[in-house]
Amino acid sequence: MCGIVGYTGKNQATPILIDGLERLEYRGYDSSGIAVSNDSGIEIIKSKGRLFELKKLTNGTKPEGVTGIGHTRWATHGGPSDENSHPHYSRDKKFAVVHNGIIENYLELREFLSERGFTFRSETDTEIVSMLLEYYYGGDMLDAIIKLRNKIKGSYALGILHDGEGGAFYALRKDSPLVIGLGEGENFIASDIPAILPYTRKFIIPDEKEVAVITPEKVTVYNRNKETVEKKITVSDLSADAAEKDGFAHFMLKEIFEQPGAIKKTVHDRITPDGIKLDGVKLNGNDIRKIYMVACGSAYHAGAVGKYFIEKLARLEVETDLASEFRYRNPLLGSDCLTVIISQSGETADSLAALREAKRRGSRVLAVVNVVDSSIAREADDVLYTRAGPEIAVATTKGYTTQVAVLYLLGLKLAHDRGTVSADEYSSLLSELKRVPEKLGAFIDEINPQAQYLAGKYYPAQDAYFIGRGADWSAALEGALKLKEISYIHAEAYAAGELKHGTISLIEKNSLVLGIAAEPALREKTLSNIKEVRSRGAAVIGVTDSPDSIKAECDDMITLPQTHPALTPLFTAAALQLFAYYVAAARGGDIDKPRNLAKSVTVE
Ligand code: AGP
Repeated sequence: MCGIVGYTGKNQATPILIDGLERLEYRGYDSSGIAVSNDSGIEIIKSKGRLFELKKLTNGTKPEGVTGIGHTRWATHGGPSDENSHPHYSRDKKFAVVHNGIIENYLELREFLSERGFTFRSETDTEIVSMLLEYYYGGDMLDAIIKLRNKIKGSYALGILHDGEGGAFYALRKDSPLVIGLGEGENFIASDIPAILPYTRKFIIPDEKEVAVITPEKVTVYNRNKETVEKKITVSDLSADAAEKDGFAHFMLKEIFEQPGAIKKTVHDRITPDGIKLDGVKLNGNDIRKIYMVACGSAYHAGAVGKYFIEKLARLEVETDLASEFRYRNPLLGSDCLTVIISQSGETADSLAALREAKRRGSRVLAVVNVVDSSIAREADDVLYTRAGPEIAVATTKGYTTQVAVLYLLGLKLAHDRGTVSADEYSSLLSELKRVPEKLGAFIDEINPQAQYLAGKYYPAQDAYFIGRGADWSAALEGALKLKEISYIHAEAYAAGELKHGTISLIEKNSLVLGIAAEPALREKTLSNIKEVRSRGAAVIGVTDSPDSIKAECDDMITLPQTHPALTPLFTAAALQLFAYYVAAARGGDIDKPRNLAKSVTVE
């Protein structure tokens, strides 16, 4: 996934483009570049490496000009290099392009162009876009872009610059995110709203394959038939500092501490004296045969926690699926199923494709999403926003816990509809859920120094195993991912009862094992698994709300607060996030932008 930005207006473009790219760097950061049009044509400066390499080359001012586009890259076709960096430009250097997505038929198009005398400087798919524009251009940019759009296949958010267009530039999207910011005498494009929030709060979002012509005075959007279309203007309520660190060393730590407030926004006005209100989503648990929870990464782990909760409370069958598998396995779902697509960004390619597959098979689709008006939010039948606010760190924290909180609300609503939960259990869970923000805030403050201490003790570990049963196993999945994705320690989550069927052969002296034993009914069983690994020399960190029951078998403890047992995964998540954060800090990782990762994977 990459970040794109564009500007045209009364100010110099370069500082605005660079500033926008800094806010987009979490989307990809192995190379970057800008293209600005001025009297001498289109000037391009681009470089392999982090954004500060580009800043050095431009010293924040060059090239001069008031219209430009910029890009920060997460390599898909061709490794990080100056040549593979965006913007890419045409043979005659009259067209420059920045792109987020994948042109799936680029090899075929490369051949098409080569046969017509074009040669290529890079290994990328994007370069063929700039060449095709040169090939199709006959004096009308809109016509050339429409021909381009009809030729390319795959996913794209494109910013296009054409020499000689004065202050105009172009944009179009399919499957990749793109917003158009509306200023006073200036207009913008970006991959997401926070990138240009300091300049404007007014945005429009082009639909699939619509083409936008952007000048300082106005934005005109054309549909597939070249007719102009009016677009709804949304005004973002995000604060400009939403994309700032507010004194925290990293966005990830800031977002861990934001979780109590985020969860409060998620649940607060949805728990009412008349029961749970799900933003007008009409759901009756009695006309659903089965629920599919489909997502990727941490969002999948949230679905795993939701599965246990909903099956236990609503007695409804829930199947959790990795979106990249679901979309190709000919799933047995139909109109009597509810598909829940969970996604922080709302732009994950596999999850978006899974959504379309579920709808194609007649299933109703509910999206649990954080980014408002994202592709998944807009294509679902219903959406429940997690209201976590912008999440900048690549490793999700508040994005995950607010997803779990929404699934708790969904489970409670379905259980209530189906009459499968007693009044006492229902009200106890509701009151406990309302108390989570306060309890979680106190817990994070209390556990923070302990997490730091444990990280200082265990950060040299080469491997780590997270074991648990039931919902603790789902929590283990997320704990293992958090640790490995930012500290680069090999970490595995394992169902505690499954360890002895093979993987226990890996346990040796000082192997690090985190034993999550919060599920009351399964705690004794998990304790026996902790004993199994301890007897083979493992160093065990126990994670539980009942320390006396397991501490004799543990080297260290993380003690969770008392809450309804079903809600414990929220607290386990926060503790393991802090542990992972401090381990990564001790190992000197690039915590907000871990190697090889991107915040939202908008490619397959
Ligand atoms: C989690 O820390 C990772 N950033 C990753 O697993 C992420 O959860 C996954 O790519 C799904 O992203 P989404 O929620 O935006 O769809």
